[in-house]
Amino acid sequence: MLFKQQALLRQKLFVLGSLAIGSLLYLVARVGSLDRLQPLCPIDGRFGTRGQDEIPLRALQFKRGLLHEFRKGNATKEQIRLHNLVQQLPKAIIIGVRKGGTRALLEMLNLHPAVVKASQEIHFFDNDENYAKGIEWYRKKMPFSYPHQITIEKSPAYFITEEVPERIYKMNSSIKLLIIVREPTTRAISDYTQVLEGKERKNKTYYKFEKLAIDPNTCEVNTKYKAVRTSIYTKHLERWLKYFPIEQFHIVDGDRLITEPLPELQLVEKFLNLPPRISQYNLYFNATRGFYCLRFNIVFNKCLAGSKGRIHPEVDTSVITKLRKFFHPFNQKFYQITGRTFNWP
Ligand code: A3P
Repeated sequence: MLFKQQALLRQKLFVLGSLAIGSLLYLVARVGSLDRLQPLCPIDGRFGTRGQDEIPLRALQFKRGLLHEFRKGNATKEQIRLHNLVQQLPKAIIIGVRKGGTRALLEMLNLHPAVVKASQEIHFFDNDENYAKGIEWYRKKMPFSYPHQITIEKSPAYFITEEVPERIYKMNSSIKLLIIVREPTTRAISDYTQVLEGKERKNKTYYKFEKLAIDPNTCEVNTKYKAVRTSIYTKHLERWLKYFPIEQFHIVDGDRLITEPLPELQLVEKFLNLPPRISQYNLYFNATRGFYCLRFNIVFNKCLAGSKGRIHPEVDTSVITKLRKFFHPFNQKFYQITGRTFNWP
């Protein structure tokens, strides 16, 4: 008798448990689908005083849903019209620096409900062939967004390409420009590592970093080596300053974005005149990857691709010292111009 009662109780508990799990799963799915389908969270006021260069934010809505459907090719023209979706020229561009953390910055900013990223690097301003196709071609490469959202693209080659500042200026002289930098020697090695991996993939051999970075005739730093040149940030920035005032730039600390992304992102939100919406909830440290990953909501999170965060080859310490000494005066100038000081050696 007692055994029968216990079995009945167990059965009841099982049914109740299943019901609870089922309801929970339903709720999770519902929250996910709401987030995808509906604009939530209308903006509750204005943030900061509106200046001419301020990005207009009439309302703040969660954007996923229809944009996501459209990217998958599921949204109809009617839906696009109904929701007022548009392809907008970027209001801000991550112009570089290559291997500074440009992808991480773009993806993290995309967590903000008022930001829509152009997923691919467009290479409009640095590639003559693309540039010749005209601004409408560029606009058509942009993702669909709600009119109050801002589009951001990143093409790190912009920072070092001669013609780009003038071309961007012609499109929009008040555009906001983001530059993410890392300690110059580490960045150069990261740059080298990427090229090395490409060569290895094609079964090709490649020089050691030391051989490329140091001129064997003079034993001095080889300034003809692109990975070295790219890390002379001040030289490139000075070209940009012929077209844009320094206030239109924001410098992101790429080393800090790796270890402590939130404060860096909050500075960018401020620079873009966006209300603070990215929170610690959106960023979680993934010990396996060794990097912060992104959490959009209860069901959707992602880490950057494995090509981000490569293991660098070991480099001779005397070469590292030489490079650091070489970059030092350029770094000082960079701090002076930008008003942002880094603890680079
Ligand atoms: P390494 O591969 O040298 O580690 P970019 O996107 O401009 O090519 O920059 C790549 C760099 O972004 C990586 O360089 C990595 O260190 C850095 N990074 C910053 N935050 C990251 C993150 N959350 N996940 C992966 N890589 C990140």
